[in-house]
Amino acid sequence: MTDSKHEVLIIGGGIAGLVLALEVADRRRVTLLQPARDEQGASRWAQGGIAAVLSPQDDVEAHVADTLVAGDGLCDEAAVRFTVEQGPAAIGWLLSLGVPFTPDPDPQAGYPYHLTREGGHGARRIIHADDATGRAVVETLMAHVQAHPAITLRTDLTAIGLIGDSAGHCRGARCLDEDGQLHRLLAADTVLATGGASGLYRHTTSPRPASGEGMMMAAELGAELMNLEFQQFHPTCLYDPEGSPFLISEAVRGEGGLLLNAQGERFMPRVDSRAELAPRDVVARAIDAEMQRTGTDHVHLDIRHLGEAAIRHHFPTIHAHCAARGLDIAHMPIPVVPAAHYSCGGVTTNLEGTTTVPRLHAIGEVACTGLHGANRMASNSLLECLAFARSCGRRLRHAPPAGDAPLVAWQSGRRPIPRQEIAALRDEMRRIMSARVAIVRRDAGLDEAASVLADLAARLAPRLPEAAPDVELASLWHALRLARLTVACARARRESRGLHFNPDCPVHGDPSPQPSRIHLGALAGG
Ligand code: SIN
Repeated sequence: MTDSKHEVLIIGGGIAGLVLALEVADRRRVTLLQPARDEQGASRWAQGGIAAVLSPQDDVEAHVADTLVAGDGLCDEAAVRFTVEQGPAAIGWLLSLGVPFTPDPDPQAGYPYHLTREGGHGARRIIHADDATGRAVVETLMAHVQAHPAITLRTDLTAIGLIGDSAGHCRGARCLDEDGQLHRLLAADTVLATGGASGLYRHTTSPRPASGEGMMMAAELGAELMNLEFQQFHPTCLYDPEGSPFLISEAVRGEGGLLLNAQGERFMPRVDSRAELAPRDVVARAIDAEMQRTGTDHVHLDIRHLGEAAIRHHFPTIHAHCAARGLDIAHMPIPVVPAAHYSCGGVTTNLEGTTTVPRLHAIGEVACTGLHGANRMASNSLLECLAFARSCGRRLRHAPPAGDAPLVAWQSGRRPIPRQEIAALRDEMRRIMSARVAIVRRDAGLDEAASVLADLAARLAPRLPEAAPDVELASLWHALRLARLTVACARARRESRGLHFNPDCPVHGDPSPQPSRIHLGALAGG
């Protein structure tokens, strides 16, 4: 085992982590962990764009109001207002770094970059780089990070847990290298930017989503988690059983895409007056219901009426990916299905990314800031990454000296647990989460999920003290406990709200709804 000392340790190299590194590095030295799997993380796959008030026809109050409606009564209005107000400056900063946003050649547009629409937004306010915004932003930020003399990028280490001290402060992270050797990175300040928990489910919109590892690392140090029951399913993932997951951006509906059922009929106008541009919870549920009603495993998204030239111009990545999979989307509707996409819950933070554990911060999808409430509005997540990474960065530029209380000891064994066994347990967890804790949850299904997950955890727990440290094992153990906490939050919410829809308690039961707050201690026996 090696020990090394760091000033600011950022765990996670998606957009939130990269932005924070650049914000802090002019004042303090930064170590940024970006293991290879982050290359496949959610940021790079974000297609749609970044929501911000940029058009002269738009205003802050309208963006705030749309976000509160989508969040279905559970947003923290102060967090919403804070995020929305940061938008224009954050986009200006990205432009100054050279992010190649798509220009709008129309002189009538009033803003030099093209703004698209997505579900829940009452105005055109999504700035984008064609249909590959995440990739464009990540690549631009990464070029600046690599050139910065005060940022050390470590791609060889994966964090498996945090280090705490006897005063209850976070003091860094335990990591494994590619040979399975343990390294303790002791840090004055530690920031989680590890992504969400869509990997608890079988079908997801990105190939290697996080499974809530960062959330559980924080929970192990005593951090509060919030709103875990609100897992977002993106309405339109490409239905491609043989291929890897691929998102069909909501911007496709924003530019006029229509959802069709097995008979080729539109069904959204029957469900909601906003039709295809209703918030995601409404659209995903309607697709799920239509598939149940017609006994099919997907629906279609039709953009043929835009014409081939417009489709290639607006959606070059989607057009090329579908063509490579044998689908000519200019001449045939796109088969789509909802898939796990975004975790609205996570580690509770304030407006500076501060968690309930001293010297531990959380930003991006791992955090729960109160912005999204019970349902995230499209393209608000990259805005949140920017706003909170920048505010967290401003705080960390001037942090007081770290404490020196004794570190809490941590033991591990030497006996490896076979990879097939880990994979089988993970499959079982994903099966039950997808079957019972997905778009529609019922009381009996949640009870079944609680019992299956408790059983899986009970099979693994006694072997952990003897087990050799292993990235896949640590990830599974984090995921299993997070799945159990998610089910506990879902069982406790006796109403249907936003992304949490339970036909056994179908109405908004609570006139002043509260977020769900939970700690690791809620799991009897760990
Ligand atoms: C999309 O392009 O539909 C994804 C963007 C988001 O999830 O906000």
